[in-house]
Amino acid sequence: MTVYIIGFMGSGKSTAGKKLASLKGWKFIDLDSMIEEKEESSITELFERKGEEYFRMTEAECLREIGSSDGLVVACGGGTPCYHGNMDYMNNNGITVYLEMSPRALASRLSQAKHSRPLIAGLTDSDMESYISEALDERKEYYEKAKIKFDGLKGEIRSLAQDLQDYAP
Ligand code: S3P
Repeated sequence: MTVYIIGFMGSGKSTAGKKLASLKGWKFIDLDSMIEEKEESSITELFERKGEEYFRMTEAECLREIGSSDGLVVACGGGTPCYHGNMDYMNNNGITVYLEMSPRALASRLSQAKHSRPLIAGLTDSDMESYISEALDERKEYYEKAKIKFDGLKGEIRSLAQDLQDYAP
């Protein structure tokens, strides 16, 4: 089974994905890191040099390059589900898990971690929460297609691992 972890920037996708993979003894891939390696560039540089459209194309290509395999957890970027039919692709090839978190919690987590994220790097702390609320509203239709919804603050990875057993072939 391939598990795709999705959710807004700052919701803890990589941390949760790594924990889940280690609990299950599965492989872990971080999609943003894969893009950075492939392009030999940080995400910030990539946005600056080639623009968001190029980034989204590379993101979709890398997602498909990973393919699906037994025992794999993929942590996606926050925007991954919203472009190039990626959400349908993931739902057709594995189990999607949406890490849900409120705009307030996301804003506080992101205030220290915005510099490596080109979409929010220029925002002040006071603009952050309203930007997140609006972006979440736009992205909701994709995120809501996830097979499993998981509370990003209170959820236990152990219980997520249990829930996933219902989907085992
Ligand atoms: C993005 C989220 C980032 C990264 C890029 C764009 C987004 O990943 O893919 O900066 O559109 O929400 P994280 O969610 O891991 O920060």
